[in-house]
Order: sequence, then C-alpha cells, then structure tokens
Amino acid sequence: MKASAPGKIFLFGEHAVVYGKKALVTAIDLRCFADVKKRDDFRISSPIGITGLDFEKHPYISYAIKRFMEIKEIKGADIEIKSQIPVASGLGSSSAVTVSVLKALDAEFEASLTNEEIYEIARKVELDVQGIGSGTDPFISTYGGCWLIPDRKPVNIGKVYFLVINTEEKSITGDMVKKVASLRKEFPDVVDSIMSAIGGITSVAIPHLENLNNDKISKLIRMNQCLLKSIGVSSEKIDEIVMKLNSLGIPSKLTGAGGGGCVIAIGDLEKLTEVTKVFPNAFFVKPEKEGAKVE
Ligand code: PMV
Repeated sequence: MKASAPGKIFLFGEHAVVYGKKALVTAIDLRCFADVKKRDDFRISSPIGITGLDFEKHPYISYAIKRFMEIKEIKGADIEIKSQIPVASGLGSSSAVTVSVLKALDAEFEASLTNEEIYEIARKVELDVQGIGSGTDPFISTYGGCWLIPDRKPVNIGKVYFLVINTEEKSITGDMVKKVASLRKEFPDVVDSIMSAIGGITSVAIPHLENLNNDKISKLIRMNQCLLKSIGVSSEKIDEIVMKLNSLGIPSKLTGAGGGGCVIAIGDLEKLTEVTKVFPNAFFVKPEKEGAKVE
C-alpha cells in the first residue's frame, strides 16, 4: 500500500514551541510517499540508498518500523520512499517520512490505527532519533492544515504566498535544539524572555495573517528572525539571504531549526515573483489541507 504525508513550514515560533510557547505552523504542498509491501525480511529503499533495518542510515524509517512492531508483529516489509521535500532543510522531511511509512504500514498490515495513534507513534520516533523536540512536525504531518501549537487550534490564514529559499546548508534539528538548550542553561532568564517574546509574536501575528495585513506581518517576521538570530540559530548564509530580501523590501525568516536549511519570504505574488530572478533556486509553496493519506 502507498501512503503520503506533507512537509511543513513554521510561520512563527520555532524553538520557542519547545518551551511551551506558541507557534504557527502550516503543512505545505510538498509530500513524502511511502510504498510498503509485505515481504519476509526488511528492505528500505530511498534516495539515501538501499538498506535493511538500519538505525544509522535510515533512522526515522527504522524506528518507525520498530515502534509499529510494538503494536503489530510483522515478519518484514519492502519500503520504498520517494520524497518531494528537501532533506534536513527545516521543511519537515523527517516527520513526513516517518508518518507516511506508518500510514502505509498501517494500511498494508491492517492495523486500523487512528490518526492520533499514528501521531503518537511518530512523536515517539522523533524522540527516539533526536532525543528532544516539541512534537510539532509529526502533528502537522499527520493532520495537515495550519495550526496554532501547542493549543492545537486550527487557523485559517488568508491567501498568503510563501517563497522558500534553500541555503543548501544542512539543518540538524537535534543539534540546534540542544545548542539553544545549552544557551538557556547559561542564561535562563534571558533565553526565557526571548522565548516568551517569540511566543508573543505568534499570538499577535494570527489576526494579521487572517486579515492579510502585510505591513504588520512584515514587521513581525523581521522581529522573529532577529530573536532567532539572537539565540544563535541563524547562519551567515541565512543572514545574507535575509538582508538581500530586506533590501528588496521583502520580509523573511529562517524556518524550522535553523543553522542552515530554508528561509521563507512572505508577501504579495508580484513582489515574490521578482525575487525568483535574484534567487534562481527559490520556489513557491502553498498551505496544504490534507495530512497523511493512503494514495
Ligand atoms: O527543522 P525542523 O523542521 O525539524 O523544525 C524544528 C523546530 C524546532 O522548534 C526547532 C524543534 C521542535 O521540535 O519544535
């Protein structure tokens, strides 16, 4: 059986959400596809290569299988992954692969898991691999849509366009979250104030996104990016892209864990289309309503 799950972008609130503050996150129209067939042993095939159960090369898929087998005993499976989501780029590829594999395993082996059960297993896999995380990515990948987290409140954002520019530098979520945790240990009050400020930006931004008030959204995006930079999760490449966009009058911020990965720019279609001439690798993404599904 074949299943798919979407990637996501953080509009506001990454890192702060790890400390219980508010984040606004939407699924995007890039998906990961997992094709699962019964077999006597395990074979995993992805753009990374072909392996058996391999916790080094295919950690998310291997832990997803291990966790699934706690619910349903299986002898083996042939798992083939095809993904539209760039890897380690802050667009949620790890959760999309985890959730799509779980959804396909569920369908192939008739385990009748609910979406909430799939989310809970994917959340365990996130912690198995990264040791730390807010559970936001597996939630969005499972349910699709745009949500205020941790409230789990659906948000109806207006007709917003997102342009994504990949720094082509890897963003390793666990490493970045641990880096912030260590800064917080050194300066607890300072970092907690920054996290509260980021959470505050998320809350203030929601009505402006619903009403598409571009002027207010721009200012809030710029503030969020500055706060992320202040906790050490930007990079020279991200700063360069953000500054260039700024000079074109376009607000932008990193999305996801940072340290590399992607920058998102928000604005009107005409202005953003101009940007694609300056950044040839830039691409548009749209908010996606559908979460994990059998294809
Ligand atoms: O880079 P991503 O897509 O894995 O997003 C990480 C978001 C963080 O807030 C930094 C961590 C988390 O688990 O929420």
